[in-house]
Amino acid sequence: MKGIILSGGSGTRLRPLTKITSKQLLPVYNKPMIYYPLNTLIKAGIKEILIIVAPERAGDYLNLLGSGKEFGVKFTYEIQDKPAGLPEAFIIGESFIGKEDVTMILGDNIFEDDFAEDIKSFKSGAKVFARRVPDPERFGVVKFDDQMHAVQVEEKPQTWISDYALTGLYVYDNRVVEVAKNCQPSSRGELEIVDLHRWYLDKGELDVAMVHGEWLDAGTFESLLRAQNFAKEKMQDKMVI
Ligand code: DAU
Repeated sequence: MKGIILSGGSGTRLRPLTKITSKQLLPVYNKPMIYYPLNTLIKAGIKEILIIVAPERAGDYLNLLGSGKEFGVKFTYEIQDKPAGLPEAFIIGESFIGKEDVTMILGDNIFEDDFAEDIKSFKSGAKVFARRVPDPERFGVVKFDDQMHAVQVEEKPQTWISDYALTGLYVYDNRVVEVAKNCQPSSRGELEIVDLHRWYLDKGELDVAMVHGEWLDAGTFESLLRAQNFAKEKMQDKMVI
């Protein structure tokens, strides 16, 4: 299993903080934000990790994270020229992924849960992680039938379909590289991760697991502030880095 941390984008919602560095390097209590998703991958036993960054911030990442030796893993870096959508990570990462399966985590997602079992036991298809939220319109969402089988996935639906958000942690088998290459940009001009989920859902191969602990996407001032307190109160004993 290979790992990818998608850590590009321009962080416009966090200006002026992101005028001088990347959003995912901002402090979340006593660590840079990216340490939290990195911790999630390392705890799952992933040893080879691709970090995808925006061109103007690449030097900051190298200075902070280096080769990975300090963390007992190996880092590879790639540049994403423009934030053209989450699935682009699998196109940029094609040679890094090779013939293996891949877990991707977003650089601004902080999870309390430990996903080691889910990731280690992954065999094939796609595995995504859902959590009930009060504001599903901000996220990708999944609708379940009576037996809690996923029946529909939508990105930021304007009309309510479900309270279950899809979090920024995704496990795919190797076919995801070809699926991403065949993705077409949406009306907002981006490749959409929901199209990858849909491809697996249509084949009956989308497995949705529940996130039980706290989950934060630290991309706004409000959620960044909540992330600071959450990291201080709940994450200190869960960090291995
Ligand atoms: O946080 C979970 C949500 O993340 C999911 O529920 C959504 O399905 C998924 O689309 C995504 O939604 P966001 O609105 O948070 O996406 P955003 O465009 O803000 O990108 C998420 C992170 O990924 C952000 O930290 C920047 C980075 N990114 C984003 C894009 C589109 C990249 O590095 N490259 C990109 O091309």
